[in-house]
Amino acid sequence: MSGFPSFPYRNTKLCVESVALDRIAAEFGTPCYVYSRAALTAAYREFDSAFAGRDHLVCYAVKANSNLAVLNLFARLGSGFDIVSGGELQRVLNAGGDPQKVVFSGVGKRPDEMRAALAAGIFCFNVESEAELATLNRIAAEMGKIAPVSLRVNPDVDAKTHPYISTGLKENKFGIPFDEAEKLYLSARQFAHVHITGLDCHIGSQLTELDPFVEACGKMLGLLDRLEAQGLQIEHLDLGGGLGIRYSAEKPPAARDYVAALCADIGQRSQRILIEPGRALVGNAGLLLTRVEYLKHTPHRDFAIVDAAMNDLIRPALYDAHHEILPVTANGSNAKTYQIVGPVCETGDFLGHDRKLALSQGDLLAVMSAGAYGMSMSSNYNTRPRAAEVMVDGDRIHLIRERESMEQLLAGEKILP
Ligand code: LLP
Repeated sequence: MSGFPSFPYRNTKLCVESVALDRIAAEFGTPCYVYSRAALTAAYREFDSAFAGRDHLVCYAVKANSNLAVLNLFARLGSGFDIVSGGELQRVLNAGGDPQKVVFSGVGKRPDEMRAALAAGIFCFNVESEAELATLNRIAAEMGKIAPVSLRVNPDVDAKTHPYISTGLKENKFGIPFDEAEKLYLSARQFAHVHITGLDCHIGSQLTELDPFVEACGKMLGLLDRLEAQGLQIEHLDLGGGLGIRYSAEKPPAARDYVAALCADIGQRSQRILIEPGRALVGNAGLLLTRVEYLKHTPHRDFAIVDAAMNDLIRPALYDAHHEILPVTANGSNAKTYQIVGPVCETGDFLGHDRKLALSQGDLLAVMSAGAYGMSMSSNYNTRPRAAEVMVDGDRIHLIRERESMEQLLAGEKILP
């Protein structure tokens, strides 16, 4: 076994569902993102079913992986969506998502993005400041609409995760300071074109313990009770995303235990519960397939130079993130300690340090747990066309995004006359 249930070894070949990865490389080339439909479906169902009979909405955080096929798959399963831009709204609509299941998060929503979301009739705007509330009120008034709003409150809880992806501390740019939230909720009543419907928080990403979630949830429930006592009607509570996944040795709580812990805290309250998971729905349902271009042995280190790079998967370079790297054909002999690096001209361009692998030129490698924040954070740095994306469904392989062509990559650029 590979340790990744959706990607088992069969006869020494690493597979996704019933398909061997070397077949995908032969057909679609490398680098290539590969996703498992069964793994995506199972991850969604685990969250969704954990709510049992309670009124809830799972809003998949589109930023984690915004491929239309992925969004469409979740839409078909009944998912809602958490978006952070007009672009993500467009993707959700194109993928057949229901706008009435969309929440719009983010600290810097532009007026044109607000307009598009109001026109689409989204479920809720998660507003992060008084200035944003005033702007939304103005835009809604111009359109003759009432904007449904939650205030995103910053509960000042330590998520105990990487500082770049921790969002719920008082020094972070996110949310309305906890101590000011009540005042803003009450003064929001003066805005005729916003209607307060909910309460929202999100404390960070890749959390591997339940405690910070429970602490944040408790603070939000206290606030909820105080708001209700003042006569405000809060119809839903959005507890954000952030549940971590196993990249190597982490032991994050299972989705069902996470949901159960939140539900236990919420008790008999009648509000609809929203969550915004991203990574936990897609992270371990995808991998990045890459080929060894060259082996380079120096007196100090052994390098495997592969055809995927930091432009394809920036997480190692940006967060020093660890992704397991597995051989597509298992062949235990002659393992060496390799630095797995890409062709980009930066020392930070690595996918893994000190990996024990037996490698030859031309071998295929799978960079695991790359379904979340892989393709969606990719770039064209070094004028590298973006990778292809493939989704496997049983024994079928679907190309869900073509490899970018050089024509597409250069299409928008113009030289001076
Ligand atoms: N809701 C809000 C308001 C968010 O800002 C995020 C993620 C999520 C939900 C989904 O969080 P998740 O369930 O995926 O942890 N690029 C980083 C992660 C950035 C997360 C940003 N916000 C990474 O590769 O680790």
